[in-house]
Amino acid sequence: MPECGGPLLPLKDVPGQHTVMIRTDLLQNGNAPPYPAKFRDTWDDVHVKMPWSMSSLFPVADKETEELQNKSRWALINESLNSKFTNPNELKNAILKYSGSYAKKWDFTALHLYCTKTLEPDAAEHLFDSLLPDMVQLALRASELCTKPIPLLKSGMNHSITMSQEQVACLLTNAFFCTFPRRNSRKGEYCNYPDINFFRLFEGSSSNKIEKLKTLMCYFKSVTEQKPTGLVTFTRKCLDKPVNWKSSQTQLTKLHITCEGTIEDDGYGMLQVDFANQFVGGGVTSSGLVQEEIRFLINPELIVSRLFTEALGHNECLIITGTQQYSKYTGYARTYRWGGSHKDTTPRDDWHRRCTEIVAIDALQFRRFLEQFRPEKINRELNKAYCGFARPEEQSQNLAAVATGNWGCGVFGGDTRLKALLQMLAAAEAGRDVAYFTFGDSQLMTDVHNMHSFLTQREISVGEVYDLLGQYYSSVCKDCLSRRPDVSLYSFIYQQVSSSLAPR
Ligand code: AR6
Repeated sequence: MPECGGPLLPLKDVPGQHTVMIRTDLLQNGNAPPYPAKFRDTWDDVHVKMPWSMSSLFPVADKETEELQNKSRWALINESLNSKFTNPNELKNAILKYSGSYAKKWDFTALHLYCTKTLEPDAAEHLFDSLLPDMVQLALRASELCTKPIPLLKSGMNHSITMSQEQVACLLTNAFFCTFPRRNSRKGEYCNYPDINFFRLFEGSSSNKIEKLKTLMCYFKSVTEQKPTGLVTFTRKCLDKPVNWKSSQTQLTKLHITCEGTIEDDGYGMLQVDFANQFVGGGVTSSGLVQEEIRFLINPELIVSRLFTEALGHNECLIITGTQQYSKYTGYARTYRWGGSHKDTTPRDDWHRRCTEIVAIDALQFRRFLEQFRPEKINRELNKAYCGFARPEEQSQNLAAVATGNWGCGVFGGDTRLKALLQMLAAAEAGRDVAYFTFGDSQLMTDVHNMHSFLTQREISVGEVYDLLGQYYSSVCKDCLSRRPDVSLYSFIYQQVSSSLAPR
């Protein structure tokens, strides 16, 4: 992509299908004004409850009578954030003013360390004199920038939201200042949504938090210094009809496999897989720091999906098109370090979105190794991957390869060899090639490459491989008493296929 893609239809708002938050008739250079011109205030169960809504109220004690009265929370936010802060403590106190009594328990150690120990004195001065005031200004322009109610992407929905990168930046500055109402505890109406307010990013003293802060502040610096001008689309997709894997006669597609490189660096133009949590973004605003969280940190526009995406169901995915990379990084997990700002030169499509398509699919977490070979688990993972990869409305020749790797095989404990095979089946069924990054594992690269060549040379179909997986479960895994099976999946496949094809 973009070269192999089909032409895009003109961007337009379609009620019930696609919410577009900008003026599509003025979409020049991506610099489109918000739509509608005036804020349309909605406070209900199907849209995000916005901090700038008139219905967002906060109990304030009357100075004389001490009686509690409900006041506009947005007015209080404006007042608190508009007062100049010169140190992290003042910033903390400003946030706490509108955050309710339990927020008093929030811990701002990481923010404090970042401001006082990490930043050089002149950088800290720049933060308080320039960057934070600019972020406040952007956050407080919300009612003029984000004028259309944002639908909640609830489970079972097929719906897209397109907004400008400027609107995303405005929403994310609000997340930084923790202004979103009813989002500070995972109880209540948003219990099935990811966290959006950043308060957990500020807690604790781990060096990971500091690196996360450095990465996100790099984004805020970039968008406040130079307004980003493109658009981003978020699409929740639900698999309408499950695939009949058993009867599929589809042949495997092409595979490029390497132990070097990463999905984000080397998957240019491809459909890039986010090894997701059902709550998209996983621990990005708290403590996680593996593939998904890192991607959300270097492409922070992804984080805004947490505002409106309900936890993904088994047959659902979230596709995000157009996010920009603002930071580089080195290391991984505990060794993760912010690696400086990144200039993203990815071309834009006709909707002024960066040609970066990311799909969030959450694998199952396995605590017992043998569990994942159960037919129902295999079906679940195949359908999940297929939901992420398939675009039934597109022709196969217009579909870019899937850039993926050890999906579900790190924190989630899956088996790389099984998952590589499942992803190859799902990609084949979706009509896409695969670029697989083994993340340094050269043995895995060789094993998967050999298996792919073996299956394609013998023209073994998706349905036949699926059947072999079922046989492996019933003859090797089902009655296995040890933690691991005696015969590996790949040896089993080699044996079965070779014996069935052998001349009798
Ligand atoms: N490119 C290619 N491969 C990678 C990359 C990369 N950039 N980064 C890591 N890998 P993991 P999971 C490989 O553990 O098991 C998060 O908290 C590397 O081999 O992130 O699906 C989510 O929010 C790594 O071990 O994915 C979920 O809660 C493997 O991919 C949970 O983790 C798996 O990465 C998902 O866990």
